[in-house]
Amino acid sequence: MPDEQDEQLDRSSSISVTEEGANEPQEVAILAQGLEKRYGRVQALAGIDLKVLPHTIYALLGPNGAGKTTTINILTTLTPPTAGTARVAGYDVVQQAAQVRRYIGVTFQDLVLDQDLSGRQVLDVHGQLYRLDRAERQRRISQLVELVQLEEALDRRVKTYSGGMKRRLELARGLLTDPEVLFLDEPTQGLDPQNRAGIWKYILELNRQRGLTLLLTTHYMEEAEALASTVGIVDHGKMVVEGTPARLVATLGAEAIHISGKGDKQAFSEKLKALEFVERLETSEENDTLHLFVDNSRQRLAEIISLANTNAFTVEDISLAQPSLGDVFLHYTGYSLRD
Ligand SMILES: Nc1ncnc2c1ncn2[C@@H]1O[C@H](COP(=O)(O)OP(=O)(O)OP(=O)(O)O)[C@@H](O)[C@H]1O
Ligand SMILES: [Mg+2]
Repeated sequence: MPDEQDEQLDRSSSISVTEEGANEPQEVAILAQGLEKRYGRVQALAGIDLKVLPHTIYALLGPNGAGKTTTINILTTLTPPTAGTARVAGYDVVQQAAQVRRYIGVTFQDLVLDQDLSGRQVLDVHGQLYRLDRAERQRRISQLVELVQLEEALDRRVKTYSGGMKRRLELARGLLTDPEVLFLDEPTQGLDPQNRAGIWKYILELNRQRGLTLLLTTHYMEEAEALASTVGIVDHGKMVVEGTPARLVATLGAEAIHISGKGDKQAFSEKLKALEFVERLETSEENDTLHLFVDNSRQRLAEIISLANTNAFTVEDISLAQPSLGDVFLHYTGYSLRD
């Protein structure tokens, strides 16, 4: 992004804060304690605690139905929690919903763009909703479409946009009110790797250049790994574990060895566990693979294969990798998160 634009974006953010009456600098941007949400008999959230520091990117990572969207809906004041409390930008999401809304932007998992409007109209209508005057709307729209590179498509109807363009337009709309905290619910769902990388770039720029605090949800492990300074793994409405991606991965061991094959898996597993270099062993039930976490895997593969041979286990595939967030997910939930 050119320097000139950085300056413009910075200026727009300081104008907004003075106009709206600055809130105090916060030690935490988002603080949720014991959030629960019940829909009839469905316990969507069963006690979520989370803390997001200002100017950081936090990723909620979890499978379908884990409670990610419900968490976002509560934090963005769209739905009240059944129990627990949350503060965003210093304000309570239930008691001070209007103040919270003033400082946040949000993009939804299911795109809610009006297909018959042009991109410019979508942004302009949103600005009117927030009572931005015409000149201000024009100024912000031109900055934002430059950021998300939609200049050329701006006057075309949204129905002619590709999936990636729609996500970029959503991102611009989420930013139009110049938020301090931006919530992105599955910002790259359904996008191909190239478009996904494009959105990642904008997200990182927003964080690094404007100091925006971001909370995003994803079920893509690489997305959490690429963007987040803190990852919270959610499953069945609970926070299973939270930490920096590096720290989460480091708890597993230096390297991971994945083994699949045929034979007496139980007996073979027992023998593997007894090896002194094996720190832990896990099995994913769905795909029948053994995951070994070892202190240092060099020279270890030969030893493992000969152990298999003497235990009537035929190794069909064996691979070696650095542990990933996927391994962390498996470790804490007992199943693997597939993309
Ligand atoms: N309005 C609702 N009424 C009833 N049940 C709901 C409602 N919204 C969510 N749920 C249920 O709450 C649970 C959590 O849903 P949520 O949408 O928060 O999950 P998610 O992590 O966002 O999943 P996904 O990855 O599929 O987007 C699910 O069991 C879901 O069916
Ligand atoms: Mg969701």
